[in-house]
Amino acid sequence: CASPLVDPHGRTIRYLRISVTDRCDLRCRYCMAEQMTFLPRSALLSLEEIAIIAERFVARGVTKIRLSGGEPLVRRDVGELIDRLGYSLDRGLDELTLTTNGTRLAQHAGRLVDAGVRRVNVSMDSLDPDRFRFITRHGDVAQVIGGIRTARDAGLRVKINAVALKGLNEDELSAMLRWCVEEGLDLSLIETMPLGTIDEDRTDRFLPLTAVMDDLKARFPLVRDAHRTGGPARYWRVEGTDTRLGLISPLTANFCDGCNRVRLTTEGKLYLCLGHDDQVDLKGALRDGGVAGLDAAIDRGLGLKPARHDFRIGAGEAPAVARHMSVTGG
Ligand code: GTP
Ligand code: 5AD
Ligand code: SF4
Repeated sequence: CASPLVDPHGRTIRYLRISVTDRCDLRCRYCMAEQMTFLPRSALLSLEEIAIIAERFVARGVTKIRLSGGEPLVRRDVGELIDRLGYSLDRGLDELTLTTNGTRLAQHAGRLVDAGVRRVNVSMDSLDPDRFRFITRHGDVAQVIGGIRTARDAGLRVKINAVALKGLNEDELSAMLRWCVEEGLDLSLIETMPLGTIDEDRTDRFLPLTAVMDDLKARFPLVRDAHRTGGPARYWRVEGTDTRLGLISPLTANFCDGCNRVRLTTEGKLYLCLGHDDQVDLKGALRDGGVAGLDAAIDRGLGLKPARHDFRIGAGEAPAVARHMSVTGG
């Protein structure tokens, strides 16, 4: 039966995030260690399996799908997957979108538009070439900016995701907001979250967005905006412009009461929360039991959805979960 997805806390799930690969061509310091062991390709869901699972979620009430990674555009068959999922638009699915690091966005923008994607989120934590290189360890900011402009000019609405990092980009966040206004883009600021061991202590880099906002409000005419995307951000608008400023503050303003999402990993596991290890194996369930098996596993998973994450950042705090953000796609 195609019963709707309601968790034990009464929240309805309408948003599926799919990590299509754990690989990435960058190594952002807050996200990955320099040396990462990636999954063997044989462990991954096939394109067909991802599509079957996604379509089952749509049949059960999911209206928004976001592809992420790792970097989704490094998966070789991602274009075909986007085309396939695009068929679900107007057949239950309202939005198909992507979070990308932008390095390959220029090549893919046209195909995304043709498949029905209307907006994308692009991770970019600095506009300064040297800083961008430092934060991502490998990235070329000019390439990302090129991808952003190509996407925008192809008709996609682009939102920049910037993780606020003490001593790395804190003095630049207002310049980034100004740049977004000039370029006709949105900006979301994100508090760094403790997932997986990285090569430094996240506490040293944690910047509460409450402090960032005090500074931005002094520099920009910011007004609250009731706009919601179905994601965790709360929005402000730069008055007199099209630019929205989103705040994603898991540490200083918990948003779990309104959680509407679950996450499918590359390996076919369904994670119920970014900050917990509870998961069920949808790949095995589908392979052994077909769609009925899949439905049963999804229901089992929903029953495990925790009320909220327990992220804490403080000196000596271990990461809340050992896995990296790239496993569950953020
Ligand atoms: P929109 O659809 O534009 O609202 O995007 P989104 O915020 O849903 O997705 P995106 O991939 O751009 O994620 C931005 C940040 O929000 C990332 O750092 C994600 O890890 C974080 N995020 C998304 N969903 C959750 C969540 O349920 N819990 C927590 N703690 N963080 C989340
Ligand atoms: N904390 C907060 N955001 C993170 N991202 C990756 N790792 C972390 C982390 N530890 C962001 C990326 C991307 C989004 C999917 O998640 O910058 O924009
Ligand atoms: Fe790659 Fe995104 Fe992680 Fe950066 S944050 S290393 S771009 S997956």
